[in-house]
Amino acid sequence: MHGRQSGHGGRRHGRPAHRRDRGVAWAGAGHRHRCRHGRLCPRPRGRCRRRCRRSARSAADGSARLAAALRQPRTHVIDLPDPDATATLGARIGAVLARSEGGMAIALSGELGAGKTALARAVLRALGHTGAVASPSYTLVEPYAVAGRMFHHLDLYRLGDPEELEFLGIREIDPARDWLCVEWADRGAGFLPSMDATIELQYHEPGRRARVSAHSAAGERLLAALENAT
Ligand SMILES: Nc1ncnc2c1ncn2[C@@H]1O[C@H](COP(=O)(O)OP(=O)(O)OP(=O)(O)O)[C@@H](O)[C@H]1O
Ligand SMILES: [Mg+2]
Repeated sequence: MHGRQSGHGGRRHGRPAHRRDRGVAWAGAGHRHRCRHGRLCPRPRGRCRRRCRRSARSAADGSARLAAALRQPRTHVIDLPDPDATATLGARIGAVLARSEGGMAIALSGELGAGKTALARAVLRALGHTGAVASPSYTLVEPYAVAGRMFHHLDLYRLGDPEELEFLGIREIDPARDWLCVEWADRGAGFLPSMDATIELQYHEPGRRARVSAHSAAGERLLAALENAT
């Protein structure tokens, strides 16, 4: 039988012949060094895998963080100290909707009484609706024909099951052309058109605070218009 062949298995002249041998080959004290992460590395400097693996891991973490940051919707915060400020925000949103060629779906989120219906009412007024705007708390859906299009105001707080939306005429909504303002949109998840923007209303002394996030190009246009106006 041959012993370990020089030039194949020897550490000095190339790769060890067997995986098992590598640890032994690199365990020589002459090669131990601290890599830049401060670990004592048994491998020759140029072959410090621990360092490479660790660097690769931190690079992967970095890209994951970047991807997560890109997935995060862009947000704009607007303080609404009184109901008039909510009406002004609604008027600005209405002006953007009136200019948009396509439809727009906006989720209005926030606790009970946060001002979601007040905001939807102001949007409708800005679009030219002059009649009453009742809260859809019990009807769940209130359709309005306004400015030559359909505006659907939904409040899904009392929706038992998202599938019930099928019986409420959700299929008649044309997301390419209609406007939608949906309170408690999370309760209709999976049965609603995708939302272009979310406006989260929070209680914030002395009134409310709106946090606008965009989820699509149309949502981005709305966000940009609100950023420019406030
Ligand atoms: N910026 C504001 N500051 C103070 N009060 C406000 C503001 N905006 C709206 N409100 C008031 O909040 C009250 C509740 O509003 P609204 O009915 O629209 O809430 P909502 O979020 O639709 O509640 P629900 O979840 O029950 O449907 C109204 O009296 C309204 O005038
Ligand atoms: Mg409401």
